[in-house]
Amino acid sequence: MFNLRSETPKEWVDVVLDDFDSFLLDHAACERKASANAVSFTVRYPNHPKLVQTMVRVAQEEMEHYAQMTDIIYKRGLQFGKDEKDPYINALIKLNRWEGDERLIDRLLIFSIVEGRGCERFHLLANTLPQGELQEFYADLVRSESQHHIVGVQLLKEMFPKEQWEARYQELLDLEGEIVRTLPLRAALH
Ligand SMILES: [Fe+2]
Ligand SMILES: [Fe+2]
Repeated sequence: MFNLRSETPKEWVDVVLDDFDSFLLDHAACERKASANAVSFTVRYPNHPKLVQTMVRVAQEEMEHYAQMTDIIYKRGLQFGKDEKDPYINALIKLNRWEGDERLIDRLLIFSIVEGRGCERFHLLANTLPQGELQEFYADLVRSESQHHIVGVQLLKEMFPKEQWEARYQELLDLEGEIVRTLPLRAALH
């Protein structure tokens, strides 16, 4: 799925379902951070109209997912706690180059890969959860996050010649696969 180099192991679903409340709290935080990340693209790159318009939409959708998550969380009687670091995202951010076009290219590539990974994992959940509201919710997220993955790659295609990012895309896919293989499984999205 989405050229991801390593499949999420089936055991990840077991770990998540064993402590589903923790997973939901982490997932809610991921949606909030995804929205903030999309907004930050628009702040950092205000002179790219297509990028701004796309990321504004993404930010809205991620915020809507966050709103849906808060409904789920309060319905289950859960409370949000302090934000926890996301080792997967932190490892990816460390790979981001920081100069010129490379900075934006890496940000968009990492954005696309993270959306792809989220989609892969929601798909696993949607296939495992018993039929009902939550199962439908995760099935809807698969559609939405796959769209985010696609718009990320689309932006790269429109903004930069392929020679400037294709090899780096392959490299980051390999590195992301390695990160997923190395990190311990948690009751969390990543
Ligand atoms: Fe989302
Ligand atoms: Fe997304």
